[in-house]
Amino acid sequence: MAKLTVRDLDVRGKRVFVRVDYNVPMEEKDGQMVVTDATRIVETIPTLKLLISKGARIILAAHLGRPKGKREPTMSLRPVGLKLHELLGEPVEFADDCIGVSAGKIASALKDGQVALLENARYYKEEEANDPAFAEKLAQFADVYVNDAFGAAHRAHASTEGAARVVAKRGGKCAAGLLMERELKFLGDELENPARPFVVILGGAKVSDKIKVIDRLLEKANTILIGGAMAYTFKLAHGEKVGKSLVEPEHRQTALDAEAKAGKLGVNFQLPADIVVATAVDTGKLNKKGKPVFDYANIQTMKGDIPDDAEGFGIGDETARQYAKILAGAKTILWNGPLGMFEDARFAGGTNIVARAVADATQNSGAKSIIGGGDSVKAINKAKLGDKVTFMSTGGGASLEFLEGGVLPGVAALMDK
Ligand code: 3PG
Ligand code: MG
Repeated sequence: MAKLTVRDLDVRGKRVFVRVDYNVPMEEKDGQMVVTDATRIVETIPTLKLLISKGARIILAAHLGRPKGKREPTMSLRPVGLKLHELLGEPVEFADDCIGVSAGKIASALKDGQVALLENARYYKEEEANDPAFAEKLAQFADVYVNDAFGAAHRAHASTEGAARVVAKRGGKCAAGLLMERELKFLGDELENPARPFVVILGGAKVSDKIKVIDRLLEKANTILIGGAMAYTFKLAHGEKVGKSLVEPEHRQTALDAEAKAGKLGVNFQLPADIVVATAVDTGKLNKKGKPVFDYANIQTMKGDIPDDAEGFGIGDETARQYAKILAGAKTILWNGPLGMFEDARFAGGTNIVARAVADATQNSGAKSIIGGGDSVKAINKAKLGDKVTFMSTGGGASLEFLEGGVLPGVAALMDK
């Protein structure tokens, strides 16, 4: 059943509590935190513009990082408010608390078409606990609840779930924003009855992280193309040597079962024919996050057994070209998970060939291409092909859970049309 959306609402003069996912990457520059990728903010602008044009009084709520109930200054949403003001071209009031006096003052002073952003809801531990009393406080001034935070909809938190229940109990409407609507359309409806052939590209580190999504997509896809470190567990399951590659030996059977299911359902299930391997060398240095920095020696593309001291870092060119050929004939493409360590140019070659093939199929043969969030979006953007695909999700964990067929609490709390 389709969800009620902001389009369906009469909100003139009403206070509309809008949960957005402004959990954006930030960096410290000259002592200030600044937003380094504003995609999630940009993607909410259509919802906000629509609500403004309808005369709503908009109260935005969001979280940033995982401050675990403390007022962690580096996780303040204030710089996000500045960025939003710049992108929206309208003033954005900022309340330095998401509940209580300062939130109340700002919410009650709003006039029709005005916007305020509340401070990080996760400054209270009650947010993640979905504490009912806290949800009441958050929704205190809300006549209407809107959720445009698809990326956080897999969390049953006070601002994503509890506050909606509070508004509904009072007789108020709970609706999806336009971004939420688009996410549900592309990751949900479009994949229910996809134009065929439907080709799925699945990467990522672990079979265990992706097995639910593999299982579900085996029921729907014509072809599944596997990449990423997950491929090495399949290799291991076939009795091949994987050297120092990241593998899950305990999931060898899971991998074999997935292949058997593909065979039974007539799904073309492809594993990489060649792999780029290298020997990781610890440089003894630490990165900004305190993690060891590695360099890579003996980089080569190979087939078959991986040498004992080497590690797989991505699909090889032959695999990428084979995958590209399959993608050229696709009518629907879903991509979830990177096909290698694309952040390092030395291992990004295969991922880039596949990214280009997805873009070409979209542009030249009218395929619908849906990029299922997180690292796959990063890979497409790094290849500068973000504007050449049909849809890129703003969700990470949320996209994965939704593609697995799960019910997201933030979606379940919204009303049907
Ligand atoms: C995300 O970025 O994944 C969402 O905003 C949810 O954040 P979380 O993983 O910290 O709950
Ligand atoms: Mg997450």
